[in-house]
Amino acid sequence: MKKGKKLIVANWKMNPGTAAEARSLFLASRRAAAEARRLSVVVCPPFPFLSLFSRLANGVISLGSQDACWRNGGPYTGEVSPEILKDIGVTISIIGHSERRARGETDDIVSRKAQAVVREGITALVCVGERTRDENGDFFATLREQIKASFSKVQRRFLSDIIIAYEPLWAIGRNWRDAATPEAVREAAIFIRKVMADIFGDAGAQALVLYGGSVGPENAQALLRDGDIAGFLVGHESLEPDAFAWLTQIANDL
Ligand code: 13P
Repeated sequence: MKKGKKLIVANWKMNPGTAAEARSLFLASRRAAAEARRLSVVVCPPFPFLSLFSRLANGVISLGSQDACWRNGGPYTGEVSPEILKDIGVTISIIGHSERRARGETDDIVSRKAQAVVREGITALVCVGERTRDENGDFFATLREQIKASFSKVQRRFLSDIIIAYEPLWAIGRNWRDAATPEAVREAAIFIRKVMADIFGDAGAQALVLYGGSVGPENAQALLRDGDIAGFLVGHESLEPDAFAWLTQIANDL
């Protein structure tokens, strides 16, 4: 990730189904990234595909993981450590995605994982977001608690290796029309940086915030222009080469 550049992170989730498809999608994403040199573009494929792309990344595009273990080495069947991820070229790890939190990942585990990856020199992209929005604004309290708990074990010196993704659950996996509005994203981003400043002091207010939740070429421009964010965490539209190329071009040209 390069300083000062907008950041687009593609979260492929559990897609595609074969290495051949993954390779072709990766090469298409790399072409899109090559046409958008004012952006940093990161692709987070399923774990087994990561090492296939180590040598293909070429400085044009970076590799990210969708998760990481909170330990390096040991009897943790099925887990992948930050040390292994670092060795195969991963620069960013998504931590605490809502789809993992839904399977029992607690704020405490998120906090341990965030600490483990930053210690390894990997940027922790920590996801937070409310399940529903209420008119009284109670969701702000939910966000605050989630952020405080998710960073409880992260030392201040690692602040520059932390990015927060605001991913409201109600906006994930839908049509772009159902995504959060630029105003809602802006409000959340300002609030998140305020809470980060409460935890880490003034420097916390500089934390980078991404938005994720039904981002596509149709809403990318308005969200980036008015959402007060540093970029996007993109799900299903990152699996569509044309849409992803269009999205990155829009972000690049802004
Ligand atoms: P969608 O872009 O499919 O809504 O997914 C968002 C997300 O969960 C990215 O991590």
